[in-house]
Parts: sequence; structure tokens; C-alpha cells
Amino acid sequence: MSDVVTAPPAVRLPPATQMPKLLQGIFFAVSRRWMIQRLARRLGNVFTVNIPIYGRVVVVGDWRLAKQVFTTSPEELGNIQPNLSRLFGSGSVFALDGDDHRRRRRLLAPPFHGKSMKNYERIIEEETLREATGWPEGTPFATLPSMMHITLNAILRAVFGAEGAELDELRRLIPPWVTLGSRMAALPKPERNYGRFSPWGRLDEWRRQYDVVVDKLIDAERADPHFDERTDVLALMLRSTYEDGSAMSRKDIGDELLTLLAAGHETTASTLGWAFERLSRHPDILDALVEEADNDGSELRQATILEVQRARTVIDFAARRVYPPVFQLGEWVIPRGDSIIISIAQIHNDASVFAEPERFDPRRYIDGKPSSFAWIPFGGGTRRCVGAAFANMEMDVVLRTVLRNFTIETTTEPGERWHSRGVAFTPKDGGRIVVHRR
Ligand code: HEM
Repeated sequence: MSDVVTAPPAVRLPPATQMPKLLQGIFFAVSRRWMIQRLARRLGNVFTVNIPIYGRVVVVGDWRLAKQVFTTSPEELGNIQPNLSRLFGSGSVFALDGDDHRRRRRLLAPPFHGKSMKNYERIIEEETLREATGWPEGTPFATLPSMMHITLNAILRAVFGAEGAELDELRRLIPPWVTLGSRMAALPKPERNYGRFSPWGRLDEWRRQYDVVVDKLIDAERADPHFDERTDVLALMLRSTYEDGSAMSRKDIGDELLTLLAAGHETTASTLGWAFERLSRHPDILDALVEEADNDGSELRQATILEVQRARTVIDFAARRVYPPVFQLGEWVIPRGDSIIISIAQIHNDASVFAEPERFDPRRYIDGKPSSFAWIPFGGGTRRCVGAAFANMEMDVVLRTVLRNFTIETTTEPGERWHSRGVAFTPKDGGRIVVHRR
């Protein structure tokens, strides 16, 4: 009997734009949302682009193909290169692939599990009330900066166990760092010799200051007589051992904490900013939410969060890279080394799944949960967002607390436009509202 070796199917890529690569790169860096929408209109919901730093990328705006990507093993579809670990370091979960990634995810899971969420609710409510004491009454203000403060403090306290001087130091350090880091995320990084005053030099200097604080936090945690009972992520990482008995290195711990801070706070804050922007333009939903919050309900509020995340998607793609000689995706055959981007925002606007997708309508989820493959603000599969349950709990508690303590004025002004902060998309005017204390 002779072995029959079947040749892999011939490469067959979706339609591509003829635009020069450099121009595609510039559009992608400067106006990604607009570029993807335009190309989708011209080329259909699956197409190919070619961008400096990523190379050839297949953009997928079809939820069935997204489902296939998310359910494919990470041995076949691995981590995109480069990724956000350029900013967070090689010890970040964003840098890991295969077994290393699996082990790290197992380590990070417990504090982000649904069960742990109840413990964090009090911290979020406290942070919301504290931040809201400074809100003006009767004049418009942007909610986004407040949401950034709340979500940053929430992660620092709940996830890091940070307190006192270290908490203050990180509060000062992280916001400008994340802002600049996000802007630089899609740009090529020079190999070396970037000056101290260049953006990369500034990022390095902030990293140096951050490492000093993390060292102090580690010393303080280890000195805690109740160290063995602590449930914050830092304590878990310090106590963890891998199967071979080794511990996580000091550098990896620093990289991972930074990852959780940066990935967790801006995304959640941006979604909350959009929530206020949407609610101030939908009086009927707002009235129903106030009544529900006063009566300890949460069904419509949960549906509202789902709808804000669909209609105002803050992270527009999840990405993978092809490892085998070819990967067959529906009718397409994609070669090794190419990347695949799941175009989350495009899928959230698919009229065959979400009727009249431009309509903001939380009630569409009251009688049925959204499809877990078409509603994908947290991505999917083995790399699905670690912080999804935390983000959901946090948004729920912030909204509930604001609704119970403030009346939000409604407006007939047109919706705010989209603004790219580099990684996340925020409402252009920061989710401006007018409130009165109740
Ligand atoms: C509304 C808020 C959030 C949104 C929209 C969001 C969205 C996402 C998306 C789209 C991904 C990529 C998933 C994929 O590739 O399939 C991701 C990954 C990730 N997110 Fe979130 N996220 C949010 C909040 C958080 C929070 C609160 C944390 C932590 C405290 C967090 C930590 C992470 C981490 C560590 C990853 C990398 C996971 C991996 O590569 O295995 N995120 N997130």
C-alpha cells in the first residue's frame, strides 16, 4: 500500500484593495474604522489588506467565519505579531502562545471568575460615589475622564491590592503612559537609539518608575502576615508555581500587572462613556432604567450594557496568525504567516443578526440572549478577554450607582462621533451629560 500524500489546497485569498501598502498602513494607523468600513462596502465582508508591521491580513466581517476562527485550536491559529506585548513586555499574556499562554490563563482565571465578582462590588460603588462628588450640577461635563478614574482605581484596588502611597503613585503614572502607549501601538518601533525625549524614551522612563513602585508593592505584600490568604492577582502571582516548580519571574509579574491595568481600565471606561452618551439620547430607556435601579432590578441594565457594547464597540478587532502551511477559512485558503483580523464592529452591524443595527435598542435582548458568536465585544476562544466578567460587573455597578444618585438630563442633539485613542474608540466629546443630584 502506498502512502497518499495530499497536497495542501492552493492559496485563495479574499479580494484585495489595490491601494499602495504604505497608504494602507497610514489609513490603518490614522483612521482604521473608516478604512475598514470603506473597504467592506467595496470588497464585501471578507477582504485582504497589506499593512506595514503586520503584513498581509485577511479581515473577517462574517460571524460564521469568526466562529470558525474562535473555535480553531491555538496550535493552528496563534498569536498575531506584533501585538500589545510591545508595550507591556515579553512577560505579558499578550506575548504568550501555546502552552505558555494556557498556563498563564489558568493562573489569572480565579480572581476574574464570576464567583469573585461580588467581593469587588463594594469597591466599585465606593469609587463611583467618591468620583461623583466632584460632578457639576446643571452644566454639561464629559463623563469619560471620571470613568477613567473609577476604572483605574477599581483595578488598582481590586486586582492589585494597591493602597496608600503606591496607589497614588500608580494613579499618577498610568494614565499618561496608557494614553501615549495606545497612540504608539500601531506604529513601527525603532530598533535602538531613540532619545530620552522621544515618545519611546518617555515610555521607557515611565516603565522605570513603574518598576520601582511594583518592587515596593511586592515587598509590602510579602510582609503582610496574611499574605497566604490574600486574593489579589499580585499575591496569586507571587504564590504561584509552574508544574516544574519554578515561580513567575519578577519581570513577568511587572509585565502582567501592567497588562491588566492598561487592558482593563480604558476599555471599560470608554464603554461607560458611550453608555452615558446613548442614555442621554434615549429618554424612554433612561426612565425605565431609573425605575429598575430604584427597585433593585438589573435585567434592562444588563441588556443596555450588551447593546452599548454592540452598537458602540470600543475594541474593533481580535487578531490571530496562521501557523500551518495553509488555513482553510470557509471558501478561502490563507497561507502560513498571514494574519486574520476579526472585524468585531462590522459583525456587530450585521443586519441579518441584529435587525436594524443602527437602532440603539437594549430591548432586543430581553427575550433572548445575543448569539455568542455574533455578539463578540470581548473576542472569543482561548484568547477571549480575561476581564469580561469583571468589566460587566463594573459597568453594572457604576451605572446603577449613578442612576440611583443622579437625574440625567436628556438631549435631542445628534450622537457623539467616534474618536480613536489608538487602541480603544471613545465618544468624541467624552460622553457629555448634564446631571442633578436626586
Ligand atoms: C468593556 C471592557 C473590555 C473590552 C471591550 C475588552 C475587550 C477585549 C478584547 C476584544 C480582547 C481580545 C480577545 C481576543 O483576541 O479574542 C481582550 C483581551 C484581553 N483583555 Fe479585555 N476587554 C475589556 C476589559 C478588560 C478588563 C477589565 C481586563 C482586566 C482587568 C481585561 C484584560 C484583558 C487581557 C489580559 C486580554 C488578553 C487575553 C489573552 O490574550 O489571552 N480586559 N479584551
